[in-house]
Amino acid sequence: MKKSVLVVANWKMHPKTQAEAKKLLTESKKAIEKYQKVRLIIAPPAPFLPILSKGVRGKRLTFGAQHIHTEEIGSFTGSISMPMFADVGASAVLIGHAESRYPANGGGDTEEDIATQVALAIKYKKTPILCIGERVRDAQGLYLHDVRKQISAGISKAPKNKVKSIIFAYEPVWAIGAAETMSTHAMHEMSLYIRKILMEYIGPSAGQVSILYGGSIDETNAKAMVHEGEVQGLLVGRASTDGARFNKLIHALY
Ligand code: PGA
Repeated sequence: MKKSVLVVANWKMHPKTQAEAKKLLTESKKAIEKYQKVRLIIAPPAPFLPILSKGVRGKRLTFGAQHIHTEEIGSFTGSISMPMFADVGASAVLIGHAESRYPANGGGDTEEDIATQVALAIKYKKTPILCIGERVRDAQGLYLHDVRKQISAGISKAPKNKVKSIIFAYEPVWAIGAAETMSTHAMHEMSLYIRKILMEYIGPSAGQVSILYGGSIDETNAKAMVHEGEVQGLLVGRASTDGARFNKLIHALY
């Protein structure tokens, strides 16, 4: 494989213990060991992040937060802020994930919150991984409007010259945790569409932006999605929380 691939492992609320988290980290590290073109960002549950990131050096494996609050400090029970994550080893942060965005999926972050979180990540020199994606697809293509809105709202508080450093993770909600992923052809079209929208905001530097696909990626569809879907990487949920499966997924990319 010639192409570099960024894999973001969103562990969500897995595993249960730090011993298991350490084991999964060891297996994940091993999975990318001999594949020099793969970069991995692991987004573990918050309590495990400082334990896992300690002592890990280098650019191929880094860590990310799964969610941040819109404020940096304050009376917000149960929340964690960007500076806190930054202090314990996060260099990226997932923002606007369907499970943080849509109330029906357990979230509640508004477009305004998401824009604030993106700006905060940039303020702390961390990479925002902005998740976008429609809940349902309609035959008329109205979902394209949702995607456009999410992009323009998400970048609205970011300095223009920093937009190219945002990673855009396209995750159609109907494909998350589902039985199948979307077709690679549809992803190719979507990646052109996302880049076209970004072009309107930042011009040709939109060509440098990394676009990821997420939603039911595993060892059977990862390679085709990267190559035929014209994406720079993958956001992986379930298949990243099982060491053996994750190993197969990385291997399958080659
Ligand atoms: P999945 O989750 O790979 O389990 O579908 C992807 C995600 O929600 O980020």
